[in-house]
Amino acid sequence: MTIHRLRQCVQSFTVLADRSSGNPEQMIADGKPILRELISHDDWLPEFAAEANNEHYRQYLLHCDPAERFSIVSFVWGPGQKTPIHDHTVWGLVGMLRGKESSTRYARIEHALVATNEDELLPGEIDVVSPDSGDIHLVKNGMTDQPSISIHVYGANIAGVDRSVFDPKTGKAKPFRSQYNNSVLPNIWAI
Ligand SMILES: [Fe+2]
Repeated sequence: MTIHRLRQCVQSFTVLADRSSGNPEQMIADGKPILRELISHDDWLPEFAAEANNEHYRQYLLHCDPAERFSIVSFVWGPGQKTPIHDHTVWGLVGMLRGKESSTRYARIEHALVATNEDELLPGEIDVVSPDSGDIHLVKNGMTDQPSISIHVYGANIAGVDRSVFDPKTGKAKPFRSQYNNSVLPNIWAI
């Protein structure tokens, strides 16, 4: 079993959240190497949490801290799938595990949202979202012919956070909450 990699990630983030009192800057800075270690191997993600869906991208909860200081989620993108333009309102780390992801950042200029830059994320690479340094983006699968998978760590139980999706032309926000697609969690204690 290789699920110990996820267990170690959970334990390290828990220790970090204790040590930093959940301070976002510290969670981002010291959380990056923890996530980097997890995504440097592609042999641990349970099959159910790697399954693409033909209709819509999937979000599988891998772990939520009992005090909801952080959550770890696998995002599985089918070919051509993408998110609406959205925010997070909490810090987030996006680590690429498999395939390729493209993230377009948006800035608010007067009422409209304007795309500022597009980044590609390859396996082993990490992107950061944060209310302090840029929180609005659109993410899509960078592969046209196969699924892509990224592992996200957020500074909250992300499905419990009130967030927004945006109309790019008007900049108008619409309330939004993400949902987890699984009803069971990986057994991180399996040997
Ligand atoms: Fe996002």
